[in-house]
Amino acid sequence: MKNFAAQLLLVIIYFLINSRNGIEASTHDNNIDHIKYRIPEEQPYRTSYHFQPPQNWMNDPNAPMYYKGVYHLFYQHNPYAATFGDIIIWAHSVSYDLINWIHLNNALEPSDSFDINSCWSGSATILPGEKPAILYTGIDQNKHQVQNLAIPKNISDPFLREWQKHPQNPVMTPPSGVEENNFRDPSTAWHGKDGKWRVIIGAQNGDEGKTILYQSEDFVNWTVNPNPFFATDNTGVCECPDFFPVYINSTNGVDTSVENSSVRHVLKISYLTKQHDYYFVGRYVSGQEKFNPDVTFTGTSKDLRYDYGKFYASKSFFDYAKNRRILWGWVNESDTTQDDIEKGWAGLQTIPRQVWLDKSGKRLIQWPIEEVENLRNKQISITGKKLEGGSTLEISGITASQVDVEVLFDLPELENGEWLEDPSEVDPQLLCSKQYESRSGKIGPFGLLALASKDLTEQTAVFFQIYRTSNRYLCLMCSDQSRSSLRQDLDKTTYGTIFDIDSNLKTISLRTLIDKSIIESFGDGGKACITSRVYPLLAIEKDAHLYVFNNGSQSVVISQLDAWSMKQAEIGHEGNINCA
Ligand code: FRU
Repeated sequence: MKNFAAQLLLVIIYFLINSRNGIEASTHDNNIDHIKYRIPEEQPYRTSYHFQPPQNWMNDPNAPMYYKGVYHLFYQHNPYAATFGDIIIWAHSVSYDLINWIHLNNALEPSDSFDINSCWSGSATILPGEKPAILYTGIDQNKHQVQNLAIPKNISDPFLREWQKHPQNPVMTPPSGVEENNFRDPSTAWHGKDGKWRVIIGAQNGDEGKTILYQSEDFVNWTVNPNPFFATDNTGVCECPDFFPVYINSTNGVDTSVENSSVRHVLKISYLTKQHDYYFVGRYVSGQEKFNPDVTFTGTSKDLRYDYGKFYASKSFFDYAKNRRILWGWVNESDTTQDDIEKGWAGLQTIPRQVWLDKSGKRLIQWPIEEVENLRNKQISITGKKLEGGSTLEISGITASQVDVEVLFDLPELENGEWLEDPSEVDPQLLCSKQYESRSGKIGPFGLLALASKDLTEQTAVFFQIYRTSNRYLCLMCSDQSRSSLRQDLDKTTYGTIFDIDSNLKTISLRTLIDKSIIESFGDGGKACITSRVYPLLAIEKDAHLYVFNNGSQSVVISQLDAWSMKQAEIGHEGNINCA
C-alpha cells in the first residue's frame, strides 16, 4: 500500500512538473512533429511584437533572406525543452513584412552521419538563377564540426518549405590548424571578381580565435585558404562571422558580392568568451583574401559592438526588395533556467534593424526597420516641455508594457557637462552604475524609466549623461537594470557605452522599443544600441508605467516626444495565424 502511495505521488509530481513546463506530451525520438505543447496561460514576459517560436529554446538567427516576395528566418531551436540541448535543429518561419510571421515545419533536422548530432548555425546565399543555398554546421557522428550544403526541393515554392541535403556532404571538414570541435558557422558566400565563391567559417586553434576562408567554383567543392582571413588572441572561437560591404555615402544596403571604391567592408565576430558581437570596419581586396580592419581589437570597452546589452550571434542579409541591409540578433533571457522551464520558452530575436555606415566612416548606424511602425497604435505627444533637474514626468495614456517611444532632448551648453579627467580609463558599465546610484549629475542622467511601477520601486532607467574632457565631448548611454525587478535572483548587470559627440550638438535622441520583458534602445539616431531583458513583478501589463526623468542639475527640454502603444504582431502556424 505504501508502495502504491509512493508511486501515485511520483506520478502526480511528474504531471505537476510537466504542466509547469507547459508540456502536454513529449517524446524524445526524432519525430519532432508529434510533440504538442501548451504555454502556461499567465505569461507576463512573453513578448507581443518580437519574434519568438511557439515554445521552447531559440538561439541564433540563421540564413535570413528575401526570396520571391517572402522573408525567411531560420533559427537554432531545441524542440524538446526551453534550454539549449543535445539536439539542435533549424526551425523555419516566413513573413511578408519581417514583423508578422508564419511558422513552418522545421527545415533541417539531424538525419545523416554528417549532422546526426545537431544542425548548428549557417547562412544562405542566393546563387545565380535565383537559387538559394544553405551552408550549415553539422555535428557529425564523432561530434566533430563539419560544413554541409542544403538546397530547396522546389525553388518555385516561395516558402521554401522543404530542403534536401547534398549527397557530397560534408563539403568541408576541419582543416589542419583548426580544432575539430571549433569549426563552425559558415557566413553568406560572396562572389569574387575571378568568378569564385568565398565563404568564411569561425574557428579556433589553442589561444587563437580566427575566421578562415574557403573558395569554390561550384559551391560544392571547397578549398581552404592557408592564411586566416582574420585572427585574434584569447577570444575563444570566433562564432557566427558575418562579412558584408556597406556604402560609404548612402544608407542603402548593398549585395554581399559587391567590391568597389564606393564601399567599405564590415566583419562581425561573435566572441564566445565575451558573449558579445564585435564589428570592425575595414578594407577587403578579394585577390589578397584578407580583411584589414581600420582598428585592431583591444579586448576593452573601446571595441565597437552592435549592441552594448544582450545581443549575440547576429546575422545580416541584403534585402534587395528594399535595397537595405538588415540585421537580426539573438537576445537570451536574464532570468534563471528554472524560470525558462516554467515559462516553457527562452530566447527572442530583436526587431530587425536596418544598418548602414555612419558619415564618419568609423561606425555603423542601426535603426528598427520601418515596418515595425505599422504596429503603432494610440499616440501620445509632448512638445517643448522643460525638465528641471530632479523632475519625473509620466507618459500616460499608452500601454506602457508594449510601446515604441521616441524622444528628442534639447541640450544645454555642453560646456556645462561633467568633467572627465581621463576618458581612456573609463569603464562605461561601471560609470553607468555609479551615475545612477548617485542620482545626480550636471547634464544628465536624463532619459526614460521603462517598465516602471507606480511607486517607482521597479524601473529600468535608460539614460544619457554628457561629459567634457580637455579636447572633446562624450555621451554616456546606459540601461540600468539594478531596479528592474523586486526579484533578487536575476542577472541585473547595468549596461553602458560612451561615444564622442560633436561640440556643436544641440539635441540628442532616444528611441526605445518596450515589449513586456525586452527594452531595445537606440541612442543618438542609432549610433549606440542597448538591449535589456527585465522581469518586473509589479510593472506588468496595466500596472506598467513609462516616465521621462532628469536627475542632472541642468535642465533639459523635451523638444519632441512621441509614444505609441504597439499592437500585437501576428505570429502563428500556417493556416492558423493568431497571436504569439
Ligand atoms: C552561437 C552558437 C554557434 C553554434 C550555435 C549552436 O550562439 O554557439 O556557434 O553554431 O550557437 O546552436
